[in-house]
Amino acid sequence: MLRTHNCNSLTIEDNGKTVTLIGWVDTVRDLGGVRFVDLRDREGVTQIVCHPDYAEVHEIAKGLKDESVIQVTGRVTLREPETINEKLKTGKIEVVAESIVVENICAPLPFPMDDDKADKVNEDLRGEFRFLDLRRPRNINLLRMRAKAGHAIRNYLDSQDFVEVETPTLFKSTPEGAREFLVPSRLNPGQFYALTQSPQQYKQMLMVAGIERYYQMARCYRDEDLRADRQPEFTQVDIEMSFIEREDIYALIEGMLKKVWKEVLDIDIPTPFPRMPYKEAMDRFGVDKPDTRFGIEITDFTELFKTSSFKVFNNVANSENGVVRAINAKGLEDITQGELTHLETIAKTLGAKGLAFIKAANGEWKSPILKFFSDAEKAALKEKLNIEDGDIVFFAAAPWEQASAILGRIRLEAAKLLQARGKLIIPKDKFNFLWVIEFPLMLWDEEQNRYVSAHHPFTSPVKEDMSLLDTDPKKVRGQHYDIVLNGVELGGGSIRIHNPLLQKKVFEDVLQIPKDVVESRFGYMLKAFSYGAPPHGGIALGFDRLVTMLAGRSSIRDLLAFPKTQRGQDLMANCPSPVTERQLKDVHIQVRGDE
Ligand code: AMO
Ligand code: AMP
Repeated sequence: MLRTHNCNSLTIEDNGKTVTLIGWVDTVRDLGGVRFVDLRDREGVTQIVCHPDYAEVHEIAKGLKDESVIQVTGRVTLREPETINEKLKTGKIEVVAESIVVENICAPLPFPMDDDKADKVNEDLRGEFRFLDLRRPRNINLLRMRAKAGHAIRNYLDSQDFVEVETPTLFKSTPEGAREFLVPSRLNPGQFYALTQSPQQYKQMLMVAGIERYYQMARCYRDEDLRADRQPEFTQVDIEMSFIEREDIYALIEGMLKKVWKEVLDIDIPTPFPRMPYKEAMDRFGVDKPDTRFGIEITDFTELFKTSSFKVFNNVANSENGVVRAINAKGLEDITQGELTHLETIAKTLGAKGLAFIKAANGEWKSPILKFFSDAEKAALKEKLNIEDGDIVFFAAAPWEQASAILGRIRLEAAKLLQARGKLIIPKDKFNFLWVIEFPLMLWDEEQNRYVSAHHPFTSPVKEDMSLLDTDPKKVRGQHYDIVLNGVELGGGSIRIHNPLLQKKVFEDVLQIPKDVVESRFGYMLKAFSYGAPPHGGIALGFDRLVTMLAGRSSIRDLLAFPKTQRGQDLMANCPSPVTERQLKDVHIQVRGDE
């Protein structure tokens, strides 16, 4: 037996016992004669005393390197009252070592292991030494939290009669969604699998197969540009149900999240969650995943500026789909020139021509465009935006989608600046769940000059809007819903089309996918739908995002055991990496050097 106890379990009850512990050397302190080793394992820390009376033990302790693995046998003794450490669960005892076995000597550490210092270390270095970075107790606890959340979800879905089914990850390429990872087939020269972006089509087939209630902790793969909340491979809590409507999904997910938050954080989140139509989310917050924990909402001034003598606003206000909108970043009048330039740059990357602003201080307004505003316009702005001393107002004059996107981003950036100044406080335990509903079924894609699905092509139109499919597709709402938490899209789903004729019409007439492509990509689905497809729908929640929110972290990389960098690399194993000519030949691939 390598140990009798873990490093967090001994108490005064164990006084006098001979015990064996094994773990990592957290620290060694030499207090002139006696040497103290903090021994750490997954559960916690125990103080080991290496007394000169035990000469061998004392000598070993002298040369111990941090993070080496040692096994200690010794006697539990009570600490003197003045040396009790109230912060440690084992702080009232220590183990007087009688023998020490060194199992593994740790090489010089590439970075310090305590959280404050390690957090500041370059992420690439930590990635290369991910096994050490993970060993930090805080990071191990993140993985344990992830496991706990996974258990809560599985238990809940089991209790609701869901069947866990694993579906293949080697699938057919269906380029309607994100860019896929391709896998060449050795047995079928020149042919490829794609790694599943999500088990969407498989889970629909399971509904046709009569499973009725399916779930899976599904691995998904998307070859996208990566961000703080995106990884090339990630996990979805993937769910699909038959014989249900949107309300059934809302109730199921609310129950599930309530249970997870209770079990993991012991927090009671109120249900049902509020709901907000997509249009309202865009109008008020400039984004389809609004963070409703703070205000700084968008106000519309399109009507006001239709008759303005300020040409820029006037022109946009009178153009089709053009709007003039503003937000008041209350209290941010002290924005620095650098910060202001940063906001302008952001606005410009979103296609803005500029970022007009008004600052209010000492009873006066300052703005490069103030001279263009009439008294009536100023009065309307002041009243609707409640402009007071200390405020700064930002404008966007652009087509609706673009103005929303610009002010949505500026709102978030302004909130960050206000938070840094202590002028906006968002409590850590505030969890604003929100259903965003009534999305359009289709979005117009300027580049491709055709409609594309807002969610995916299997989403059913809202019944009342069905007739508009032929006449005005962009007005058709989809039976699609997103679950949003504090400005993060946690998940999304929809009620699906189960009628083969309607599905065909959406593919061919609305999305204008050529008939032969529809047949080769989706033929099997259309076939399946003509063999007794039940009404069905579902949802998928990003599990990595969910646990990141639970842990109050800002990057999903922290909640993955072995995350990839922004460039999609695993720096520990060093991949992606080249392969041999032989391997390439096997899979009938030739790498071109010219791209
Ligand atoms: P969707 O594409 O919206 O829907 O994905 C569902 C959820 O998965 C998470 N997610 C990601 N998490 C980490 N890294 C990524 N690259 C990433 N991409 C997505 C998000 C997102 O809300 N099959 C449909 C669901 C359905 O209709 O049932 C789907 O995959 O949290
Ligand atoms: P201009 O008359 O083009 O120099 O613009 C005057 C001010 O309005 C400048 O501060 C620009 O940054 C800003 N501005 C110009 N176009 C827009 C727009 N479409 N939306 C918001 N601000 C703008």
